[in-house]
Amino acid sequence: MKIGFIGSGNVGQTLGRVLIEKGHEVKLGAREPAKLTNWKQSLGNSELASVGTYREAAEHGELVINATPGVVSLEVLQSVGREALAGKILIDVALPLAFENGELRLSSPPNGSLGEQIQHAFPETKVVKTLNTVTSALMVNPLHLAEGQHDMFIGGNDADAKNEVAAYLRQWFGWRNIVDLGDISSARATEGLLLLSSRIYGAFGHSNFNLKVVH
Ligand SMILES: NC(=O)c1ccc[n+]([C@@H]2O[C@H](COP(=O)([O-])OP(=O)(O)OC[C@H]3O[C@@H](n4cnc5c(N)ncnc54)[C@H](OP(=O)(O)O)[C@@H]3O)[C@@H](O)[C@H]2O)c1
Repeated sequence: MKIGFIGSGNVGQTLGRVLIEKGHEVKLGAREPAKLTNWKQSLGNSELASVGTYREAAEHGELVINATPGVVSLEVLQSVGREALAGKILIDVALPLAFENGELRLSSPPNGSLGEQIQHAFPETKVVKTLNTVTSALMVNPLHLAEGQHDMFIGGNDADAKNEVAAYLRQWFGWRNIVDLGDISSARATEGLLLLSSRIYGAFGHSNFNLKVVH
């Protein structure tokens, strides 16, 4: 499958690497694509790996992943344009976070979420919010923790798109427990988990943790 990343930092490079190893054609979109020479080289200059502008990555992808900082995601996606994303699934892993007086806070609007803002701005795109609640190393390797017995949340308005993405999370990365939280307004809940995660990070001193819902 052709997969395009809008954003080529930690998440883009980590997920991109694993997807290339699985045989997918990955294009990382970057502000300065030339900066990704090392990433390509580290993959043995695989023919499956390419880099480009954000728009080129979006056009390349049959499926597109937003991996930009949440505070700029909407602006970046708007610069890519609706056409390049129309009809496609957009997995949104971004966290809308900002710091105010040294305190972390959500930058999404009150009673709203970045996921909803993106879906509203791109009505022809199927936005699926997922993977945003764990660190990138766990996104691609859930089995590394508690034998994979912990939960990944997923939300979005299009049921088929969510099922498709859930199947990818199982196939690509080995996720076992995927909890469908409903429509894209569920992004309010999963983006809000950032406030809890940052405190857990403070308590444990590392990010190798996740939530498991016991019921
Ligand atoms: N890292 C994690 O473990 C993790 C976990 C859960 C969710 N997330 C979320 O996933 C998203 C990506 O995280 P990351 O760790 O990959 O971030 P990152 O390493 O900081 O990479 C961010 C990417 O966005 C680009 N970017 C930064 N500012 C920009 C701007 N003003 N305009 C356009 N592009 C800009 C960067 O480009 P340059 O390379 O040119 O700076 C880079 O390609 C974030 O929303 C983050 O909150 C991350």
